Amino acid sequence: MPAPATASPDEIRDVNARYHDGAAAGYDAKWGIDYGEVGREQVLGKVAKALGGVPSFGRSLEVGAGTGYFSLNMLRAGVVRDAVCADISPGMLEALEANAARLGVDVATEACDAEDLPFEDASFDLVFGHAVLHHLPDLDRACAEFRRVLRPGGRLFFAGEPSRLGDRLAAFPKRAALRVAPLWRRAIGAAPAPAGNRDGGEANHELEAFVDVHSFTPEQLAGHLRRGGLDDVRVRGEELLANWFGWANRALEATADPDDVPWGWKVYAFRGYLLLQKVDGRLLEPRLPAGIFYNLIVSARRA
Ligand SMILES: C[S@@+](CC[C@H](N)C(=O)[O-])C[C@H]1O[C@@H](n2cnc3c(N)ncnc32)[C@H](O)[C@@H]1O
Repeated sequence: MPAPATASPDEIRDVNARYHDGAAAGYDAKWGIDYGEVGREQVLGKVAKALGGVPSFGRSLEVGAGTGYFSLNMLRAGVVRDAVCADISPGMLEALEANAARLGVDVATEACDAEDLPFEDASFDLVFGHAVLHHLPDLDRACAEFRRVLRPGGRLFFAGEPSRLGDRLAAFPKRAALRVAPLWRRAIGAAPAPAGNRDGGEANHELEAFVDVHSFTPEQLAGHLRRGGLDDVRVRGEELLANWFGWANRALEATADPDDVPWGWKVYAFRGYLLLQKVDGRLLEPRLPAGIFYNLIVSARRA
């Protein structure tokens, strides 16, 4: 659900910082974020789709880095040597620092707004992010900042941005899952979920409805980057069947007490998602227009 059209840019930034601060502790569990082999494969797969391969970079900036899903996996895989992680939510960055310490990885963090980056001009070889652009009130301003901090010749990508059509299509499996959720819970013997249990409590969970400001057509997304002064802008789509399957399962699971969801169900949901991701990648993504997929990936460079 998007933020109300009447929300001011400052209100959107404020609610993003507050919601993500509250959600930080349960964020990795809620989204199944992994820093082992599975997480690395997922992240590198998206880097490869964005950049047409997996090059290595010196200094990188991740915008809206959250708990570190992309940067920590990329550091561990040797894709980036020196990573700076920026986010508007200090709580997310605390969770990121704890993850980095546990994994024995060095990373710098900076609590700041994507539209006003406290970094020198031309100071990064790669600027990137995952699932962040749709939270930013003034995307043209943010894209101009991304270009400013990127060195000439530097690369940029953003993955996991919701497409307008994909977002509408995903509403169907979500709604269907919610309708059958009571039956499903009875079948697996699960109690209903405590309200907002994976989002830092009920009050924090209610803020989630106000953090999203955009979904994009591929042309709109590319337009923001071009107006920001970036070159060689390309957009592609990913995940259709995997996404419907994933949203339906996530919608079901969100209604149940997590301790009651059987291991066998989790394995089925996870393996099914990976299988359909392969079907999407091999059969659908090369053939269908980008805008039909749920996620958009955009890449560019600074000339
Ligand atoms: C959906 S989460 C994605 C986190 C992480 N990239 C991942 O994939 O797990 C979006 C992140 O963007 C951050 N964010 C939202 N608005 C922001 C802004 N104006 N500037 C910087 N970060 C922002 C949030 O705090 C949150 O950590």
